[in-house]
Amino acid sequence: MSKPLSPIETAKFVAAKRACDFVESGMKVGLGTGSTAAWLVRCLGEMVRNDGLDITGVPTSTRTAELARQMGIRVTSLDEAKWLDITIDGADEFDGDLNLIKGGGGALLQEKIVATASDRMVVIADKTKQVETLGAFPLPVEVVPFGWQTTKALVEETLSSLDVLGDEATLRMNGESAFITDEGNYIIDLHLKRISDPRQFGIVINQIPGVVENGLFLDICDIVVIGHGDGRVEVKDITLGTTRHDVIEISHPDNVFSDLAE
Ligand code: 5RP
Repeated sequence: MSKPLSPIETAKFVAAKRACDFVESGMKVGLGTGSTAAWLVRCLGEMVRNDGLDITGVPTSTRTAELARQMGIRVTSLDEAKWLDITIDGADEFDGDLNLIKGGGGALLQEKIVATASDRMVVIADKTKQVETLGAFPLPVEVVPFGWQTTKALVEETLSSLDVLGDEATLRMNGESAFITDEGNYIIDLHLKRISDPRQFGIVINQIPGVVENGLFLDICDIVVIGHGDGRVEVKDITLGTTRHDVIEISHPDNVFSDLAE
């Protein structure tokens, strides 16, 4: 018998489960990346297999694509799908305006392209991701490998002119080597502590040659589903200005998914 889920995994699971309510047969669905998004893919896969849900998934990373296929979800590329009904993804931070930091899992570029090409973006997260001001989580910036040290130096120089508290920039590593994104790029994590003006920050940082994209998702997310360890969920809709409270019944605590936590 598998172990019951920890409170944090329960929070991620119930957020993902509740977000499945936004998905209907016939939809083209952007599938996010990370441990919370992996719960979503599992839950959607269960609906495809057991309830006849008929969707086409557009994954935001090779690992999500692999999991989606394993779960029996039909997968296609964004170029094939062109425009999506909905994207559901995790986040590293979200604020009161549902602006986000993403890219902790290194998939920010595909995630941003896919979310932007969707009618709606729903973020699924546990309560710990909610912040007053963005920036405590290191902001990932994807850069091309060519001349990356020069790009990093330019980014560091630029930080001094921006309203942020921290100025440390580190190359993301995967063991002894640089972490490589699905696009073959590097990631520089910016330890900013507080980003007072994310809009200005995003515009300025993306001007630097060699920078491909940053992990600030501004005005992209429409709804956030916040999961709690006791099964409660809050659904905040920025367009409607509403917050709805629900409880997700976890019918099988020795959950078949409990092997999933990444
Ligand atoms: C990957 C992401 C993830 O959505 C983010 O890192 C949250 O991951 P998790 O659900 O594992 O906490 O942006 O690039």
